[in-house]
Amino acid sequence: MQFTLIAVIAGLGGLLFGYDTGVISGALLFIRHVFHLGPTMQGVVVAIALAAAAVGAAFAGSLSDSFGRRIILLITALIFIVGALVSAVAWSVAILLLGRVLVGAAIGVASMLTPMYLSEISPPEKRGAIVTINQFYITLGIVVSYGVGFLLSHGGNGWRWMLGLGAVPGVVLFAGMLTLPESPRWLAGKRREDAARRALIFLRGREDVTDELSALRQDIAREDRATAPWSVLFEKRARRPLIVGIGLAIFQQVTGINTVIYFAPTIFLKAGLPSASVSILATAGVGVVNVVMTLVAMRLLDVAGRRKLLLWGLAGMLVTLVILSVSFMIGLHGSLALVTVLSVAAYVAFFAIGLGPVFWLLIAEIFPLAVRGRGMSLATISNWTFNMLVSITFLDLVHGFGRGPTFLIYAAMTLATIVFTWFLVPETKGRSLEEIEAALEGEEKLAA
Ligand code: GLC
Repeated sequence: MQFTLIAVIAGLGGLLFGYDTGVISGALLFIRHVFHLGPTMQGVVVAIALAAAAVGAAFAGSLSDSFGRRIILLITALIFIVGALVSAVAWSVAILLLGRVLVGAAIGVASMLTPMYLSEISPPEKRGAIVTINQFYITLGIVVSYGVGFLLSHGGNGWRWMLGLGAVPGVVLFAGMLTLPESPRWLAGKRREDAARRALIFLRGREDVTDELSALRQDIAREDRATAPWSVLFEKRARRPLIVGIGLAIFQQVTGINTVIYFAPTIFLKAGLPSASVSILATAGVGVVNVVMTLVAMRLLDVAGRRKLLLWGLAGMLVTLVILSVSFMIGLHGSLALVTVLSVAAYVAFFAIGLGPVFWLLIAEIFPLAVRGRGMSLATISNWTFNMLVSITFLDLVHGFGRGPTFLIYAAMTLATIVFTWFLVPETKGRSLEEIEAALEGEEKLAA
């Protein structure tokens, strides 16, 4: 099988993530009438999936270190299918919440295992592009969910279809993963050399994989165990990856991206666009910008490097957030409302070439193999927790301080992210995962 096709299948987990985080805002408009939900319960329906995602991510690390990446991804696909169907047929709020918890947990696991698996099967010189297939699918899933939401928004049972259709990417992921091998890195770590060799031969499409296999072996020989205990994460050699991983996880969310992903139609309507359908259309446009710029990032990550894209993207986010905030403060009307739409689109574009993909890529690259699963878990838990905090506080912040000052908070956070990145985030372009590990360990020793 051609490697690109392999990566296209392996990345499908991102589609679950994108579709289901995107679809709920549209579905909620109907659900709240059917089940007579007040604002608090509406918040719960949204946030419970995000909380479940954090819990899913918490288990994904050690489960995948113990049982392998592939089998856990297969089980995740099944949970996702069941969760989507349960949500779709829900006859009471309790059943709906159960469905949301299952779906959320599955997204949490997939959000971590997809980039991990992709990074472990990629050759180093293409790893940036391959891992970013995950983020590409996330953005695609978001746009598809906007489209489905729009098409099914005639009322009635449309919302059931919106949620139920989430089972489709689950089925595709399950079927696809059946055709792929376990991660060779994980197999080598478990001392299953023959299986690791066979997986590499399948992935590379050639018989001679001796070099790559011996690089893996050396890496594993440096570790005493294939799976180290949690405490290793807090030893000196994992300290820098842990700070960078958790730091970027939090910054990726507190710079505000999901206020746009979840609330864009409301933001646009308040900014003075003439109608709800024009606002939804503008939102779809922003979704497309997100997908297209992620494709641009895929082309650039292995050429320009992660750090450069991250810093340029952040600078752009900072400028556009300030413009957005000022435009809210002076209250642009009529055709000037276009400034708001354009700055939101530009903000999303800058996120999409930097912070969006680079976070998921770096956390799959920087942790030592023996604790990669657990390290990524902690970063992913932080990401979902702050995703939830930002989404549930956004409307209150807007209510309390106004839109201008709220977006200024996200701008200040972006400034902090620039400083953090400048001083702490390493360049990982073109290096093998084993070289990155050795380099970060070396730097820690020098600093000690
Ligand atoms: C990243 C973020 C996610 C966000 C998405 C938007 O994947 O982790 O929270 O919804 O980008 O493109």
